[in-house]
Amino acid sequence: MLQSVKRVSSLYQIAFICGLIVVNGVNEVTSVEFYAEKPAFLPSCKIYEPGFTKCSTNTVQKLIDQLIIGIPEVVEEFGPFDPIRVHDIYFKQDNSDVATIRANLSDILVKGFSKTVIKESRVSKKDFSWITKIFLPKMRLDANYKMEGRILLIPLKGSGKMYIEIDNLDIILYTKTQLYEKAGFTFDNVTAVRVDLNMTRVRTNFENIFNGQSKEVERSTNEFFNENWRDFYEALKPIIIETVETVLYDIMHKVFELIPANFFVEDIPTSEQLYGTKNNSSK
Ligand SMILES: *[C@@H]1O[C@H](CO)[C@@H](O)[C@H](O)[C@H]1NC(C)=O
Ligand SMILES: *[C@@H]1O[C@H](CO)[C@@H](O)[C@H](O)[C@H]1NC(C)=O
Ligand SMILES: *[C@@H]1O[C@H](CO)[C@@H](O)[C@H](O)[C@H]1NC(C)=O
Repeated sequence: MLQSVKRVSSLYQIAFICGLIVVNGVNEVTSVEFYAEKPAFLPSCKIYEPGFTKCSTNTVQKLIDQLIIGIPEVVEEFGPFDPIRVHDIYFKQDNSDVATIRANLSDILVKGFSKTVIKESRVSKKDFSWITKIFLPKMRLDANYKMEGRILLIPLKGSGKMYIEIDNLDIILYTKTQLYEKAGFTFDNVTAVRVDLNMTRVRTNFENIFNGQSKEVERSTNEFFNENWRDFYEALKPIIIETVETVLYDIMHKVFELIPANFFVEDIPTSEQLYGTKNNSSK
């Protein structure tokens, strides 16, 4: 069973990222708590009119394009969008057919989100959760790793640098939200994300995968993993899924704190209208 020991470290490494921004002298931006006016880059849509999904797909793409250019309040919190820094991931998987591993990743850098294509953005009229179909031509994760366990029957114990490179990544992103009111606007509180992934190829390399044993064995093991990438991916899947979910959750949570839901969906009901209660904290 997979047990994800996540968020043991501080959720956001803000201090570190802000430090970098200050050092780089990009701290002239005056950040706001939220946007009281609709940003010019964002076309809004009406959910109770025909063609909403097409409109919404375009709106989400425009949002992504702006994240790539840089939304100051998001950059301030997370640094650049591509490559993006991700907080440490601790992870443990036992008793699976393909792997028993414990792995820690640190200094994680994920590249590829600047080529994000939004294929479809559906919003549920029932609870305003979303299903978003996303395509990335390439995603690459670089990190320092520490790993112990067994993958495809090969016992591993090592630490060092690693990367995972994924070609043609299809993501289906399931987002749960809760509406709430603030300052006369309706906001989305992004409460959970889940992703489903497909890809055409995974390439990996783990340096020092046997703690300094022969380079030749290290090379042939990495080669073996790449030749059997579908099985190897099954073993690594929880790490990859967690990384993608972490990036998307952190960014979306921030973006929807910043931009009222009204600017995405003009005719969105208020939380009171949707949940039928003045107490907007639950359904
Ligand atoms: C991962 O980090 C945790 C917490 O620091 C530690 O207890 C664990 O032994 C580490 N795992 C590996 C495989 O290094
Ligand atoms: C991945 O492929 C399976 C089987 O074809 C499909 O059911 C699933 O929706 C696909 N997921 C994504 C993210 O494309
Ligand atoms: C968002 O949801 C989380 C988890 O349910 C909750 O703790 C938090 O207070 C909510 N935030 C707002 C602004 O409603």
